[in-house]
Amino acid sequence: MGIFLLYLISFTAHGQSVSENNAPIVEIIKPKANKKLKCNSLVPYSISVKDVEDGNSAYEEIANFEIILLSKYLEDSSLATEYLENINKDLEPLFAMSKSTCLSCHAATHKLIGPSFDMISKRYNDQENAKTYLVEKVIAGGSGIWGEVPMLPHPGLSKQEVGFLIDWILSQADNPTQFYIGGAGAFKTKEVQTISNKSVYILTAAYEDHGISDDSKSKKHGTHSIKLMIGK
Ligand code: HEC
Repeated sequence: MGIFLLYLISFTAHGQSVSENNAPIVEIIKPKANKKLKCNSLVPYSISVKDVEDGNSAYEEIANFEIILLSKYLEDSSLATEYLENINKDLEPLFAMSKSTCLSCHAATHKLIGPSFDMISKRYNDQENAKTYLVEKVIAGGSGIWGEVPMLPHPGLSKQEVGFLIDWILSQADNPTQFYIGGAGAFKTKEVQTISNKSVYILTAAYEDHGISDDSKSKKHGTHSIKLMIGK
């Protein structure tokens, strides 16, 4: 007990300077910035993550399912600044879900084992008690609403943690955030009828590290965003 107290006191006295967690360095290797993409096509991507504490994705030291790519279509490139200023609204819930189990069963706009986030949002976003119901359902698990396949229970998550995720899921009806998991893969560009020369795609690669001793307050994230042109 004495030693423990001593440790506490010295830790508090030194504060953050004892050992500061380094932020990860994230880079989109492929595609190259400003490349022109074709609409309705598959675009291969790859991401590099380097973190002093967690490791280097080149040596498979980074958990692949914790690397996130967001792809956002904007009709006018002048909207990019505002979009990027608010990107944490999408990244925070996605980081939390990538560290839980959710993203192995749920995707942005297509059904995996469970319904997509835009389908869930369209079904519930105008219902008054949806949030309370969905928080309880995620914690307890269950089946029968979307089909016979059950969602596993998540007893380790608090109502507050799940509530934060549900708020975001319920906001995904109209302009869902397209996200992809993993350091390499392909994303699909939209089918658009009329493309002006102002239309762009913004790609953002992101990784949140594990901080020091998994202390959530010391976690840091790294992001890298690039702009791509889009044409027929
Ligand atoms: C093992 C796969 C699996 C995992 C992991 C999973 N889900 Fe689900 N989820 C499902 C299935 C299947 C359904 C459909 C259940 C039904 O039909 O009642 C579902 C339904 C939902 C619904 C809608 C519930 C309803 O009654 O309409 C929400 C919201 C949801 N999941 C969120 C989450 C969140 C958040 C996580 C992570 C904490 C998560 N899910 C993890 C498979 C999963």
